[in-house]
Amino acid sequence: MSEEPLWQPLSLGRHTLRNRIMLPPHGRLVGDPFGPEHQARRAAAYWGSRAADGVAWICGLNGFVDNSVLIPGFDPVGLGATVRGVFRLPHFHERAARYVEAVHAGGALASVQLIAQGGMPHSPSGRMANHASHQVPHVLTREEIAWFVEEYRYSAQVSREAGLDGVELHANHEDLLQLFLSPATNVREDEYGGSLENRARIVVEILSAVREAVGPELVVGVRLNVDELFEGGYDLDGGLAIARHLEATGHIDYVHCVVGNNWGAPSYIQTHHYRPAQWSEQAARFRAELGVPVVYSGRVSSVEAAAEVVGRGHADVVGMARAMFAEPHLVSKARSGRADEIRPCIGTNDCLHRVVVEGIRFGCSVNPETGHEGDAPAAAVEAPRQVLVVGGGPAGMELAALLAEAGHRVSLWERDEALGGQLRVASVAAENAAYRDFLAFQGRRLAAAGVDVRLGVDATADAVLAERPDVVAVATGAAPRRPDAVREGAPGVVEGRDVLLGRAEVGERVLVVAEEDHMQPLTVAGHLADLGCSVTVLYSSPSIAPTVGKYSIGAPLAKLSAAGAQVLVMERVVAVEPGRVVTRNTYSGAERVHDDIDTVVLACGGRAETALYDELRGRHPEVHVLGDAYAPRRMSFATRQAYELARTFGRVHA
Ligand SMILES: Cc1cc2nc3c(=O)[nH]c(=O)nc-3n(C[C@H](O)[C@H](O)[C@H](O)COP(=O)(O)O)c2cc1C
Repeated sequence: MSEEPLWQPLSLGRHTLRNRIMLPPHGRLVGDPFGPEHQARRAAAYWGSRAADGVAWICGLNGFVDNSVLIPGFDPVGLGATVRGVFRLPHFHERAARYVEAVHAGGALASVQLIAQGGMPHSPSGRMANHASHQVPHVLTREEIAWFVEEYRYSAQVSREAGLDGVELHANHEDLLQLFLSPATNVREDEYGGSLENRARIVVEILSAVREAVGPELVVGVRLNVDELFEGGYDLDGGLAIARHLEATGHIDYVHCVVGNNWGAPSYIQTHHYRPAQWSEQAARFRAELGVPVVYSGRVSSVEAAAEVVGRGHADVVGMARAMFAEPHLVSKARSGRADEIRPCIGTNDCLHRVVVEGIRFGCSVNPETGHEGDAPAAAVEAPRQVLVVGGGPAGMELAALLAEAGHRVSLWERDEALGGQLRVASVAAENAAYRDFLAFQGRRLAAAGVDVRLGVDATADAVLAERPDVVAVATGAAPRRPDAVREGAPGVVEGRDVLLGRAEVGERVLVVAEEDHMQPLTVAGHLADLGCSVTVLYSSPSIAPTVGKYSIGAPLAKLSAAGAQVLVMERVVAVEPGRVVTRNTYSGAERVHDDIDTVVLACGGRAETALYDELRGRHPEVHVLGDAYAPRRMSFATRQAYELARTFGRVHA
């Protein structure tokens, strides 16, 4: 489809967008604009870089509305939980103005989202919005509702004072406002519950307070869940009725359509399990029935997908969040015919898992430079170095590309006949097709950077030394890990990676031993389900996939459930015998026998392949190790290590 409609300007309130690509909120994990100074600088550099590349509009400030209606001492929990919202901070004006300045310098519109994430302490009726978390919220009184309306007004007023171009009401993602709009969570019997008009009353009151505070100049919009896809929630017609009702207030300039919820399937930050722009046809209904422009966000992961959404008339504007983590020059590359150079977002959601689940610093699986936009460039060096990278998985590919792009002479040796390592293995699973796009991108990138890629090479220490490289980087990955109870060569036992590659036969009744904390067991189990097996998954941990957060767990579990798979936790394998497996409860030690098993499939992560590193260390003056060969983790760990290591080499003076 032609990209032309994507590059057309559009009137939005009293402003004009220079094209149809906007950035919805997603950057706070890179750096909190209202946090410590270094974080604020990082955030401004991130948003500024994307504006400078040509996006039309950035709604990048997460504007948490003050929550101090809470009784003293109550601690709200969860992402975005706050007592004192950002608008009441003494440095609000200065920090918001800094964001506006960065975005305006790039020629984009700068807006803020007003957020009162609901379920963590507040709600209309004390009912939960999903079935995976059970923190019962406080029921707001009428006085507290009025207090909130005033707080939104104040927040909008100071946004205008700080120079923002627009404000968006967050009425999605189990925000307080969605909890009011939803018949599943709002069963109040006063004027704020019941009919649509009553459920929407708080939003209408807020909209009129906000409009009064910002006047006609600022763009005011509402981000809405178009169809709650939740038992008892509103459906698409219900969502449309809400949108029409809000439009009728005359206060809104656009509606921003999204789907998904916390802990849901789909979640509101959809992984690669979903199709690009999967819900844009729902947005099309809104566009057909509303007079104001419609924005659609949700897995718009490529320029092609964006062009389809706008070109087919599903929305006037597309929101692209994670695609912008992945590629800083998405607009300029697309517009200059360099679409092949756009680094694809593959939807692993590790941007979230790292920060939200594991509490470590931000990282993007496919682009380790993201979040470093404001860093000083790598030191300039005079002479290129001859680097030999061994291992063409995510760590080795990224390191080789970065070093070659920095002017060094790089060779990359890979034992297999194709690049990719474990990512290539994982990409075989149907829901991981997006991984193949990234592998193809890295292949093009390595070729363009002039990396000498050699496949099918057995990198012995002697062969490496014979090349006489200045530096060796060992990224030899990890071998499959096997639980102690499963002996090598045990009959009926195969490796998950061999199943994916079609190298292992499996019977009908399959038991997956899950001793890896992220996606591997779920991917293997899902693939087995696709092969038609009857699947049981045994986790030795007390929960399923402990490092996979609420944004990503729904899709793989929904798939397993639909396939009739059983997932058990706290079951550690202690014996594998023909046709049966014995497990022991991780905590009580109680034994259990699983009969009628045809094949046991191991999904137990990896064991670092360190032999080459160990051997080279005493024989070469500069040897580095990275990726799974250091410690088996995920792709974002591998690419981050590649980035940090590459920086230590410096950039060769042109
Ligand atoms: C790290 C991160 C933080 C986000 N924070 C917000 C938020 O504060 N408010 C919001 O409405 N959406 C938030 N989102 C959701 C995005 O705005 C967007 O709707 C979602 O990521 C789907 O779009 P994408 O497929 O283009 O990433 C966040 C997404 C990410 C990845």
